[in-house]
Amino acid sequence: MEKYSILVGLLIASSFSFIKGCRDGLLENIDFPGTDITFLYSPSVEHCQRLCTEHHSCLFFTFIRPDWTRDNRHFYCYLKTPSGDPATQIPLLGVTSGFSLKNCIFPARPCFSQVFQNVDFLGADYRALFTPDYQECQRVCTKDPGCQFFTFLSEDFPDQDYRYKCHLKFSWNIPRTPIVEKKTGVTSGFAQKTQQTQEFPTTCQQQLFPNTDIPGSDLEELKSVSPEHCQVLCSANPQCTYFSFSSDDFSCYLKNNQSGLTAKPKKGTTSGIPARFCQLDDNWVKQLYQGVDFQGSDIEKELMDDAELCQRKCDEDTNCQFFTYVDQTFSDSEYWRRCYLKRVITMPAPPRVNKLDKVVSGFNLRDCQRVFV
Ligand SMILES: *[C@@H]1O[C@H](CO)[C@@H](O)[C@H](O)[C@H]1NC(C)=O
Repeated sequence: MEKYSILVGLLIASSFSFIKGCRDGLLENIDFPGTDITFLYSPSVEHCQRLCTEHHSCLFFTFIRPDWTRDNRHFYCYLKTPSGDPATQIPLLGVTSGFSLKNCIFPARPCFSQVFQNVDFLGADYRALFTPDYQECQRVCTKDPGCQFFTFLSEDFPDQDYRYKCHLKFSWNIPRTPIVEKKTGVTSGFAQKTQQTQEFPTTCQQQLFPNTDIPGSDLEELKSVSPEHCQVLCSANPQCTYFSFSSDDFSCYLKNNQSGLTAKPKKGTTSGIPARFCQLDDNWVKQLYQGVDFQGSDIEKELMDDAELCQRKCDEDTNCQFFTYVDQTFSDSEYWRRCYLKRVITMPAPPRVNKLDKVVSGFNLRDCQRVFV
């Protein structure tokens, strides 16, 4: 309650740097050595800071800038968490460090308006076209709901055949549950907010085929809690042409094959076709899944009386996307009544970032427009 009134007070003051625990400052040429969780590629320190903020356990980070000279680890974003002590700070040229914004107030979806000259966002391509300049490439990316970021090859790119080529790229912008398992004594579910990024006026017709498999043409294997959940994942991925969901192990196979669809009967497998411009039924988001564990990705845990309260807590917490609640039928009493709030990264994140002459990379501007309109 006290935390809440502090937040409201500061919203009025419209500055986020005075909130208790919010440290939004950046430390140039300072390294926070050690305690790495992982590293991800990132084109800028601001982007790296948001990656840390969206990562479930990251508390601070060190970013290796493009002017770093010791080796080729440019654009590395090291996500870190304390192992007991607070971070030590050591001067180091070519890096910038800072803290997660988990305790700050900031827009739910980031706007990255900066474009990056001579930087390649390698991989994650789903479509290419030719545009006269990078600005048009960025406009195409902004209009295409599947496009998270792009790389444009300039008019003076060394290989003439690829000049003016605009590569549209995808990364997951809706939450995925990395592990879904059967487990007695636990109940899992989702936050009611932000499962879908777009809204459509037309309701979708049911496009599910029970006891049907579409073998082959696998694009990606994910985990989902139901065929409806798998359909939402397929619908968000511009390369997914259809999918098959296996209820035995919660596997959601996204498929890519534009030339044909061969269905075969298979017990326990549900297949389907994605929805692109109609509104899918979101009943699966509201349900509680008894005997299902969304293992890992924990932000925090709290003691609660039941799974409904845990779901409400997840919904109220801006960082929470899904949860698992442990009830008193679970084998180990130490875990009883624990409500685990969970999340994964959903902001645009290029799988690789490299230096490359005569290319321009950047992000879609959809969430920048939302701020100004
Ligand atoms: C696509 O589907 C068709 C029809 O099922 C099949 O003949 C073809 O081999 C598939 N293509 C690929 C690349 O899997």
